[in-house]
Amino acid sequence: MKEQIQTIRKEMEEWLASEGKSETLTREKLFAYKMELLGKTGKISALSKGMRDVSSEDRPEIGKLLSELRRWAEENFETMEAALKKRELEQKYATERLDVTMPAKFTGTGSVHPVTLVREELIDIFSGMGFDVFEGPEIERDYYNFQALNIPADHPARDMQDTFFVTKEFLLRSQTSSGQIRVMENKRPPIKVLSPGRVYRSDSDATHSPMFHQMEGLVVDKNITLNDLKGLLDEFARRMFTSETKTRLRPSYFPFTEPSVEVDLSCSACGGKGCRICKGTGWIEVLGAGMVNRKVLENCGIDPDEYIGFAFGIGLERIAMIKYGINDIRLLFEGDVRFLKQFRN
Ligand code: PHE
Repeated sequence: MKEQIQTIRKEMEEWLASEGKSETLTREKLFAYKMELLGKTGKISALSKGMRDVSSEDRPEIGKLLSELRRWAEENFETMEAALKKRELEQKYATERLDVTMPAKFTGTGSVHPVTLVREELIDIFSGMGFDVFEGPEIERDYYNFQALNIPADHPARDMQDTFFVTKEFLLRSQTSSGQIRVMENKRPPIKVLSPGRVYRSDSDATHSPMFHQMEGLVVDKNITLNDLKGLLDEFARRMFTSETKTRLRPSYFPFTEPSVEVDLSCSACGGKGCRICKGTGWIEVLGAGMVNRKVLENCGIDPDEYIGFAFGIGLERIAMIKYGINDIRLLFEGDVRFLKQFRN
């Protein structure tokens, strides 16, 4: 028994001097060796079991040697475990080190998106004429998007705007005209407000995107005429395009305006002579507008005998496409850097 104790100790001393010092020693390997000695079926445990057969005379001495061996082994394993843990951590620190002072890889400067450019320019033009900006919610109530705008349920005009419904009551707004109602509910005339934002319609091709941007304009005051609307749009056209750009109003229909008009701009690419961009007509349709329907004013608690107003809704992508000669609306949403960086100024 004494000999066996000595052999185990010697074996372990050798192991510690060779394997124990090796660079490739892992915590797994160390654990496996520990089990070989101290595990339930390990060599040292086997000796403990063998104590039964030691004579009572030798037992105190052997017992002492055995527990010394066990303690010595345990202590050694403990120190080695700690050392290995430290080594692993140091290796991790070394390989995962981050030099925060290292200069970043230059990935290029971004540029302002053409739709944002148009939005900023429109706000600039109209705020110069005294308009405030109001941004309504994109998830809107049916009431604000349709009903209050004189489009009751089952009204055929709902088909003009293929709407994404969230629930029966809530939808993704299909037009920024909802902003008109929200403003008029909360503010008494005189009102002069712009309401820009994203709108959604279930529609997708070269000139339609399921999400696009509109800018609503609303003016409510006393003694306003359609001519004021025309004058305002003339100014917008000249500032947005060229000083020669003209506007043309054509009769149209929107439930929330009466009369309603469709507004064309003379083609700035050909000066109105007719080209590929205006499809030979010399005119490009850019927005819908009209005098605010009496019913809409009433719905917002504004007396239509005292006040009158006009509204217009501009599609920002449409303006960007005309202004920058873009022939496919999808280019504006694909995020292709080669396309976008052309707008760097
Ligand atoms: N909301 C209309 C549309 O999206 C545009 C419009 C706005 C028409 C304001 C008249 C007045 O088609």
